[in-house]
Amino acid sequence: MDTRLGLGLWFVLSLPLLFSSAAESKCSRGCDLALASYYVWQGANLTFVGQVLNSNLIQAPNFDSILAYNKQISNKDSVPAGTRVKVPFPCDCINGDFLAHVFTYQVQPGNTYDIIADTYYANLTTIPWLEKFNSYNPNNIPDTGTLNVTVNCSCGDRAVSGEYGLFVTYPLLPEDSLESLASSSNVTQELLQRYNPGVDFSKGTGLVYIPTKDETGSYRPLKRKRKVKEATLLPTASQELSPHIGPAPRSNSDKNVESTGSQGLTGITVDKSVEFSYEELAKATDDFSLANKIGEGGFGSVYYAELRGEKAAIKKMDMQASKEFFAELKVLTHVHHLNLVRLIGYCVEGSLFLVYEYIENGNLSQHLRGSGKDPLPWSTRVQIALDSARGLEYIHEHTVPVYIHRDIKSANILIDKNFRAKVADFGLTKLTEVGSASIPTRLVGTFGYMPPEYAQYGDVSPKVDVYAFGVVLYELISAKEAIVKSNGNNAESRGLVALFEDVLNQPDPREDLRKLVDPRLEENYPLDSVRKMAQLAKACTQENPQLRPSMRSIVVALMTLSSSTEDWDVGSFYENQALVNLMSGR
Ligand SMILES: Nc1ncnc2c1ncn2[C@@H]1O[C@H](COP(=O)(O)OP(=O)(O)OP(=O)(O)O)[C@@H](O)[C@H]1O
Ligand SMILES: *[C@@H]1O[C@H](CO)[C@@H](O)[C@H](O)[C@H]1NC(C)=O
Ligand SMILES: *[C@@H]1O[C@H](CO)[C@@H](O)[C@H](O)[C@H]1NC(C)=O
Ligand SMILES: *[C@@H]1O[C@H](CO)[C@@H](O)[C@H](O)[C@H]1NC(C)=O
Ligand SMILES: *[C@@H]1O[C@H](CO)[C@@H](O)[C@H](O)[C@H]1NC(C)=O
Ligand SMILES: *[C@@H]1O[C@H](CO)[C@@H](O)[C@H](O)[C@H]1NC(C)=O
Ligand SMILES: *[C@@H]1O[C@H](CO)[C@@H](O)[C@H](O)[C@H]1NC(C)=O
Ligand SMILES: [Mg+2]
Repeated sequence: MDTRLGLGLWFVLSLPLLFSSAAESKCSRGCDLALASYYVWQGANLTFVGQVLNSNLIQAPNFDSILAYNKQISNKDSVPAGTRVKVPFPCDCINGDFLAHVFTYQVQPGNTYDIIADTYYANLTTIPWLEKFNSYNPNNIPDTGTLNVTVNCSCGDRAVSGEYGLFVTYPLLPEDSLESLASSSNVTQELLQRYNPGVDFSKGTGLVYIPTKDETGSYRPLKRKRKVKEATLLPTASQELSPHIGPAPRSNSDKNVESTGSQGLTGITVDKSVEFSYEELAKATDDFSLANKIGEGGFGSVYYAELRGEKAAIKKMDMQASKEFFAELKVLTHVHHLNLVRLIGYCVEGSLFLVYEYIENGNLSQHLRGSGKDPLPWSTRVQIALDSARGLEYIHEHTVPVYIHRDIKSANILIDKNFRAKVADFGLTKLTEVGSASIPTRLVGTFGYMPPEYAQYGDVSPKVDVYAFGVVLYELISAKEAIVKSNGNNAESRGLVALFEDVLNQPDPREDLRKLVDPRLEENYPLDSVRKMAQLAKACTQENPQLRPSMRSIVVALMTLSSSTEDWDVGSFYENQALVNLMSGR
């Protein structure tokens, strides 16, 4: 049985993770949430704590979000000294190097690094750490202005355990020990030590990271998402990592990237790249309220916004922007195509925010498998395939520089109000990488969509996208997920690729192919068209990347399929079904 995408591959994928120890400081992205343990000193109060640890996760003057993590506090106006308060904050990947959040502190006359670190920030930061992120002479801090206060954090470590994804940054006190902290946080001493390798818990100072429960009172597991983070592929002795075949400048000076697509599609009019202020984005999203949240992915959360009279989707990334991001962002805002979700602008205050055009009808995954959506007719599925193929062909061949998406999947194909498809998040994987050049190759992508050469050796080429696109074609046919779980049992999960291949390799696959077709289509599809799409998907998902077709040929194939499928809708079902039955000898 072919389990290329099953457990075997997962094992290969997890190997690098096992090698990257907790001490490995390099990061590619952070996480939405971490907690800071603030030791309330004599004279401090919640207002003060909220001011110094101010981020988009807590909003003054109302500190309900702090209280949500501190159910023991009965009166928020008088928190006794000596209490430990857990304060939520976003945990970002700073310069591709380590996890932390940079708070902005308003300097008061007479402040020293000493009082800021030891008292105001309750030892969540240190004097050397303040000196590192601020250009001031430590003996001469101006009386006004702001300081960068960097507080370290953790998002967990799959090599230690997948059970814990939320951590409190805890400054050790002289009375603490491994034993006392393990028992008060209800984890084993061994586990706590493994999350803090080499740390002496009795030394009375320094930071440790402790797994903690979220506001609902339960541990938050690591994101189950098969996006392999921080996974540096280790080359074996005999084998060099293949060089990253990244976007390269095109020789012909096709500067006019924002013009029309290759199939004569009208591009959207060009705007200048726009930089937004945090204030404007906060206002447009009702302070990034939960009510405005429309999704969450591997890089951050997405919010609905009304921005300058237009609908927009704002992605808050779990990381901060570096100089390189800027350059990359500028390029991305200039790529326009009808079948690509447009990046309108960005904001780099505090965190990195990406502002996209809002696509009314959500993602393809939700249309195929979500409840409350009408089944997509077959002709619409073919159109969606063609639209996405055109978007991909455009970034592979017509932009300067060219892009490889590396995260094609049904969640990254969005459906507009006319049920036309647009590819989302192109350029994002590049964006998340440019800041961390020290790591040779990083796997970004989603399990179930990664071709073997990429999963195993990190080989990147446009054929990585072609493979993932093939998986999406299988999804359009079957409405099944890229990894099909049988009886909810992970160990028996199978890749869609293997599932279809078993059927397509039969001498006459028609009977079994019908069984794989989305039952919600009922009989309303031409089997011949389905079979052609399945054949195309099979060609796209061949093991040898060189044998996979280019996106250009895929577009041509789908155009042909589309023109022969056009009149296939529910209305003309009976007539067409008769025709199909006739042709297939039924
Ligand atoms: N421009 C947009 N317009 C409307 N909805 C969007 C837009 N961008 C994202 N979304 C919604 O937010 C969801 C989450 O997007 P996000 O890109 O963060 O995660 P993802 O696509 O699941 O994973 P990945 O991080 O790998 O791209 C999407 O699936 C989609 O439903
Ligand atoms: C909270 O603490 C700050 C700093 O110590 C102080 O200036 C402020 O008056 C206090 N507020 C209340 C309501 O006690
Ligand atoms: C911070 O650490 C110093 C030195 O260990 C200690 O004196 C001080 O009380 C600590 N501050 C807080 C708020 O715990
Ligand atoms: C934060 O983490 C970095 C990288 O691991 C480390 O060098 C630094 O000392 C830490 N800072 C504090 C205050 O613990
Ligand atoms: C704080 O950090 C920002 C971004 O790195 C930097 O531009 C600024 O100069 C820093 N502030 C100080 C006081 O050094
Ligand atoms: C502590 O953990 C154990 C097992 O991990 C669990 O059974 C128990 O309920 C937990 N206790 C508390 C107070 O959370
Ligand atoms: C797709 O959209 C739905 C509804 O907006 C959302 O709940 C889901 O997280 C999105 N992503 C995926 C992978 O389904
Ligand atoms: Mg996405």
